Amino acid sequence: MRWGRCHKGRQARTIPDHLGTSSNFLSPSLLSPAHMSATSSLLTVSPDRARRIFDDIEEQFRLDRDALIKITEQFLTDFRLGLSEYNQAMAMIPTFVTGVPNGTETGTFLALDLGGTNLRVCEVQLLGNHQFHLRQQKYKVSEALKTGEASALFDYLADSVDAFLTEIGSESPTMPPTSDPFTSSPSLLDMTQQPSIPLGLTFSFPVEQTALDQGKILTWTKGFSAKNAVGHDVVQLLQDAFNRKHLHVRCVALVNDTVGALLSRAYSAGGCILGSIFGTGTNGAYLERVENIKKLGDSPARQKGGFMVVNTEWGGFNNSRTVLPTTSFDNKLDRESINPRLQAFEKFISGMYLGEITRNVLLSLIDAAPRPLLFNGKSSDDLNRHYGLDTAVMSEIEEAWEVGREDPLSGHSDAPKVNGVRPDWQFMHFTDVDKLPHEDVVRLERIRGIITQRMGISASDVSLTDAAIVRWAVSLVAERAAKLSGCAVAAVLVQTERARIGGGFVPDEERIIIGVDGSLIQHYPNFGTKLRDSIRSLVGAEVEQRVDIGLAKDGSGVGGQFAIYLRLDYRS
Ligand code: BGC
Repeated sequence: MRWGRCHKGRQARTIPDHLGTSSNFLSPSLLSPAHMSATSSLLTVSPDRARRIFDDIEEQFRLDRDALIKITEQFLTDFRLGLSEYNQAMAMIPTFVTGVPNGTETGTFLALDLGGTNLRVCEVQLLGNHQFHLRQQKYKVSEALKTGEASALFDYLADSVDAFLTEIGSESPTMPPTSDPFTSSPSLLDMTQQPSIPLGLTFSFPVEQTALDQGKILTWTKGFSAKNAVGHDVVQLLQDAFNRKHLHVRCVALVNDTVGALLSRAYSAGGCILGSIFGTGTNGAYLERVENIKKLGDSPARQKGGFMVVNTEWGGFNNSRTVLPTTSFDNKLDRESINPRLQAFEKFISGMYLGEITRNVLLSLIDAAPRPLLFNGKSSDDLNRHYGLDTAVMSEIEEAWEVGREDPLSGHSDAPKVNGVRPDWQFMHFTDVDKLPHEDVVRLERIRGIITQRMGISASDVSLTDAAIVRWAVSLVAERAAKLSGCAVAAVLVQTERARIGGGFVPDEERIIIGVDGSLIQHYPNFGTKLRDSIRSLVGAEVEQRVDIGLAKDGSGVGGQFAIYLRLDYRS
């Protein structure tokens, strides 16, 4: 933020004396009648005091290169710890996926995907030329199901598969009743008495896998807390539900959505080293040398050697928060969450939480004492409600600000100067709203509209300065998330010996292929670019330029399907 710089040398204009400030106002020529009715709360506060408050917030969110390096180094330490011992915060889960597709695979299978927001049943037909067809149905998972009895949740999953099969049908080959070389879960044997449709489950929560079709739920995340699930085998929970409903469907393989992203990107790009999700939750799975997964001991999987996909569960990185730049707003979020002290990294990064952090920042400005700094001190039902500010609203605000900008991240080199200084557009000059060019005022107008519509604040309480403050708060939270995401990706590059922290290393590969999925990386304006900036600052431009980040198209569906492919060993 550049408070001081832009204030220097400014002439006091038409601010009424009793408001006691000489700069925080909007130029009347720029204001429509609607603005005139909304007076900035800043007008009532001494500029120095306001500046201190805003500077303090900005300082809390600041992450310089040294901090990013420290975080990345801690990632590497935690990776190694998680690979050596079970029950670590960063679980580093062996997935028993030991190969990735190359795009020539064919076949049609059914997959069920339970993510953070949606439940999907899909049938994927791999065409063998890096392409696939997908037929899918989405179902909503209600709060009651997320937090009730696990059996009700799994019954709902089974019902959704049933509905898909009834309404859409399946072309998947069935598994014959007699031959069952597949299942390693004895409880599933009874199902082998009937021909059944094999199904791959993409389950986007931490599961300690012991085989490709076995794994106990370690914990819930992303607002789920269904009872009697943690500690139970997720494949069995699902199979039991299929059995209860006499559905001839057999869950034969289990993957995390990050593994799905890795497999899907590998299928379309011909290879991939990391699948990562930046959506409602965050996580990454990468190809690790089996010899490094020390906690597998002398197991056959370890003895076999080669590579295995490891699901890092990086959302649980640094739960002790020794290196994460925790602000008072994060502390509040964590304390009020259903899983305090857990998923620390995820709470800084993911779509489930960014809106809530921003809400906390905005409330602190609304409630600032002795005088409010935002919206005349007025809040709304939406802003008062826990999780009442959706991250999608942040995305809309950033988009409204970015529309029409030629080079949004370059510092706006062709931007007009303000008081002889070219503004740093990363942070809005909300003290200088009156000096902004017309098109920026139009952008703030749009943001003002979003605030009234999506946050429910009355138009008469939202000034253009308020709009600029909101946009500033939103960008602080999102930028920190993107930078931290870059640390996780950079740590994988270093762990897999493709990069060194600090740079100066040129990997053998021309392309380091990474698959990504999730609402933030797909839809949040500039999230991907900022993530890349962070990677570059950590491992240097040589490596960063070789990193080919691409969307893992329908990763959860394709991943679940490819897991079946591996499980039934269609490769041979
Ligand atoms: C879960 C991960 C998942 C990620 C992205 C996290 O909350 O723990 O298993 O991969 O969200 O969906």
